[in-house]
Amino acid sequence: MLAMHANRLKDFLKINISDKLAEIQRNLYANKKIWNVIRGLRMFSQIYRRSRVGILLGLVFLILSTLLLGNARETEASDQKLAETIFPKAKKFVQRNPILAPDQIVAIEEELGVKLRSGDQKPAFYIPISDKKKPMGLVLFADAMGPLGVVRGAVGLDMRGKVVKVEIYEQKESDAIAADGFLKQFIGMGIDNAFKVGEDVEAAEGHEDASQAVALIPKKTLVMSYALYRKQEPKSDTEKSPEPDIPEEELPEAEDLKALMALMIDDYFIVVDYFDEKESKERAIKAARRLAKYGKGISNFEPPKNADQTEEYIYLQDRFSETLLKFAEALEKEGISDTTREQWDAIVTLVNQAHLRFSEEEIDLDTY
Ligand code: HEM
Repeated sequence: MLAMHANRLKDFLKINISDKLAEIQRNLYANKKIWNVIRGLRMFSQIYRRSRVGILLGLVFLILSTLLLGNARETEASDQKLAETIFPKAKKFVQRNPILAPDQIVAIEEELGVKLRSGDQKPAFYIPISDKKKPMGLVLFADAMGPLGVVRGAVGLDMRGKVVKVEIYEQKESDAIAADGFLKQFIGMGIDNAFKVGEDVEAAEGHEDASQAVALIPKKTLVMSYALYRKQEPKSDTEKSPEPDIPEEELPEAEDLKALMALMIDDYFIVVDYFDEKESKERAIKAARRLAKYGKGISNFEPPKNADQTEEYIYLQDRFSETLLKFAEALEKEGISDTTREQWDAIVTLVNQAHLRFSEEEIDLDTY
């Protein structure tokens, strides 16, 4: 028993020390790189112009939606500095820490053909926000194992899901694999690229395996971003999502789970009041839709209790949002009815269940 605790402590310290070292490394690198920002500005402004065209054309990433901007917090200074070298035009960065569901991990590993490293399983995305308050893409810090040890990097993607830049800030192989000359070949690559040395990646001379490790970093960023954030593009008019013409509403940002819940409580009471005939149907429908949107952001935050039960947490979150959308549709058609009352009761039961399982504190919504 004692030995088991000792081992756990050892593992815990190992993880934390290596995380800390990675952070210090990033910090040093970021300070050094900040001097290169001005030099890089011209190049990035061209890329940015290109990605703006992309925004008009494609809107591939769901990140664009204001929903994902809700519930975000400003980034750590060191990571932000490094992310700034990738998106120098960003006004600010917000961080998102999505939880990868076990089936997403399996799918990602299958696509990558390698196991995710423990750090990858808790990804931290940094989303650059323009002065017009729109997301410009994302930055992910990702690692890969090279022949001589871990290669740590950061990758920026634009809104079309194309690589804007790859940075390598820690590696033991050769300067050649961290040089701009080698890394710039990844710019413009996307999810359809193989990221394979000899195919669409030219290795740094004499460092084939290390070059392959570097290539895995943007690939990993793409595969993970797509698994988490890709927007489903409707294939035809009939296959469009059920709510295409609802104007995207600016939802406020929440810094943590409690703040997100505080945002949800008002909408919850709008629906409660509607059933008591103290609110209009239109406001109740809007409140239900907003709740569904807020709901989708819940798993960006770790719950204080049963944090390892990610599958159940994500399941409850998904059910919550799905049921609310169906409820909003039914409200629109039939207003207060046995069906909509039952649907709302089921939603409240689901919320109570989520609180019982994942909140440390007992929550009675009627007391708010
Ligand atoms: C109508 C929907 C919901 C409302 C109105 C609501 C409201 C609340 C409120 C008022 C709190 C207490 C916050 C505080 O202590 O300051 C809370 C906490 C919490 N809620 Fe919800 N909630 C809803 C749905 C959900 C769902 C669907 C989940 C999970 C799938 C969830 C997970 C949690 C967790 C984990 C906490 C604890 C947060 C913490 O202590 O850090 N909630 N919620």
